[in-house]
Amino acid sequence: MSKTILVTGSTDGIGLVTAGMLAAAGHRVLLHGRDQSKLEQAQQTLAETYAAAVAGSYRADLSKLDEVDSLADGILNESPSIDVLINNAGVFHTPQSRTAEDLDIRFVVNTLAPYRLTRRLLPQLEKYARIVNLSSAAQSPVNLAAMAGEGSLSDFEAYAQSKLALTMWSRSLGLAHKDTGPVIIAVNPASMLGSKMVKQAFGVDGGDLRIGADILIRAALSDEFADASGQYFDNDSGRFASPHADALDDNKVAAVMQAIDRLVAQILREEVPNPA
Ligand SMILES: NC(=O)c1ccc[n+]([C@@H]2O[C@H](COP(=O)([O-])OP(=O)(O)OC[C@H]3O[C@@H](n4cnc5c(N)ncnc54)[C@H](OP(=O)(O)O)[C@@H]3O)[C@@H](O)[C@H]2O)c1
Repeated sequence: MSKTILVTGSTDGIGLVTAGMLAAAGHRVLLHGRDQSKLEQAQQTLAETYAAAVAGSYRADLSKLDEVDSLADGILNESPSIDVLINNAGVFHTPQSRTAEDLDIRFVVNTLAPYRLTRRLLPQLEKYARIVNLSSAAQSPVNLAAMAGEGSLSDFEAYAQSKLALTMWSRSLGLAHKDTGPVIIAVNPASMLGSKMVKQAFGVDGGDLRIGADILIRAALSDEFADASGQYFDNDSGRFASPHADALDDNKVAAVMQAIDRLVAQILREEVPNPA
């Protein structure tokens, strides 16, 4: 059956390949990117081959949480019945590593933005909908002060901390929604796949991007993930696995969840929500 699937960061790399493979399989894809011309290019390329595949296209810079909210508003107004959200957009190295709020961009784009988008779309998602979050084998203990903007981290450390923080919120929300849905899963798509992120960061060609796209599509659609809410799939080993030990530590997860809620509220000048 044809599904409606939002892939963030579908202008390049794993996200672009995933959008193409979903379109080829007859699904309706909602594209997202931060760069209007790359977004139009992706839309045009897909629409030329699969006429009805692109159900919408949204521009939003995920380092700005007000643009994350605009993205959520656009989806809720125009495509309220999405079946799958793939939180794929991510950043490792960038010349400008601080946001307007003087936060590390990795925490904002890789952790806070997908969290906010998920929170905004959650009430609209059906029980059997899925949210697939792009984690990584790179996971380091989250320094809450660094996440709140104190000091500076290396690219790798900021990336690895932001990915563990995402894996932690993914597990927390996934377990909280285990009985009610939607299914929320964190996936390491496999390491060193040949995207521009990997080429820029490590100077290597990297592996076939379809390895990552394949596992995202399985996580989004296949029965083997239907009861996996809160779990972490490691595509380096090809199985569900334990994430970093901190993601299994209730106290550490609670502290990270609280810090994420506080930061999001602070950036958007909202009240801090009560713990769910
Ligand atoms: N490649 C790997 O081996 C690997 C391994 C583990 C995890 N991952 C994860 O997989 C995901 C996809 O990465 P990739 O390797 O395919 O990298 P990529 O080719 O650099 O793609 C990243 C995507 O995210 C978008 N993006 C980056 N910053 C953004 C921002 N501020 N606002 C909105 N969109 C933004 C990019 O937009 P532009 O097109 O404008 O740059 C692009 O569409 C990431 O979450 C990454 O951490 C990748």
